[in-house]
Amino acid sequence: MGNWKMNGSLLTIKTLCEALNGIADTSAHVDMAVCVPSPYLFYARTNLKGVCLGAQNVSHHDDGAYTGEISTSMLKDFDCQYVLAGHSERRALYAETNVEVALKAKKITDAGMTAVVCIGESLDQRLSGELEKILFEQIRVLFSYLSLKALANIVIAYEPVWAIGTGLAATANQIQDVHAFIRQTITKFNENLAKNVRIVYGGSLKPSNAAEILALDDVDGGLIGGASLSGKDFGEIINQAKRKTCLR
Ligand code: PGA
Repeated sequence: MGNWKMNGSLLTIKTLCEALNGIADTSAHVDMAVCVPSPYLFYARTNLKGVCLGAQNVSHHDDGAYTGEISTSMLKDFDCQYVLAGHSERRALYAETNVEVALKAKKITDAGMTAVVCIGESLDQRLSGELEKILFEQIRVLFSYLSLKALANIVIAYEPVWAIGTGLAATANQIQDVHAFIRQTITKFNENLAKNVRIVYGGSLKPSNAAEILALDDVDGGLIGGASLSGKDFGEIINQAKRKTCLR
């Protein structure tokens, strides 16, 4: 899944959509999606073929006096299938809390879309040994606000904050360890869900490390920021994902 963040113009997004249409392969077992900036949702919906549409954020309110916000029903109008909830940039820059993220995830799944819930630790938290505590809490709050039916429609994106946009991805061992920890944690709440939930990795995923990362046992895909702004790089990452034969 690509995340274009607040990048691009109508012109560059036109070029990117054309590149993505060239990469899309509906016969492959890989779900390909891109989270576009909301002003371009209409353009992307009209022009993307065989690529699912995602949004980067949504309000947890239905509608009303919330200037600047976007509702799930608006996203549904544009056939969005995925919505990010709790990207670390939103947690850090807009003070989104675990509870708000859970409320958003609930709203997204209630609307019949898939919530891609981002979780992850800062470098300080990792260095001070708080990694597991932070991730456990991010997961626990989801389980206290969402029903099992809703939780069946979430994807977890593990994104160590220190790896996002820095060019320094986590190592394969670090990623596999954390993904396994996330799956074990979910097992404590619901075993069946833990088996089926997709856990994707994000943080400086790029063509040079995609093969190694995407092949890891507990990695079910990627959330790709910078590299998704290049059709060529994104295409190479998608090709690596297609090589993974083990379907969960
Ligand atoms: P990055 O971003 O690939 O540029 O590190 C990932 C993300 O923020 O989702």
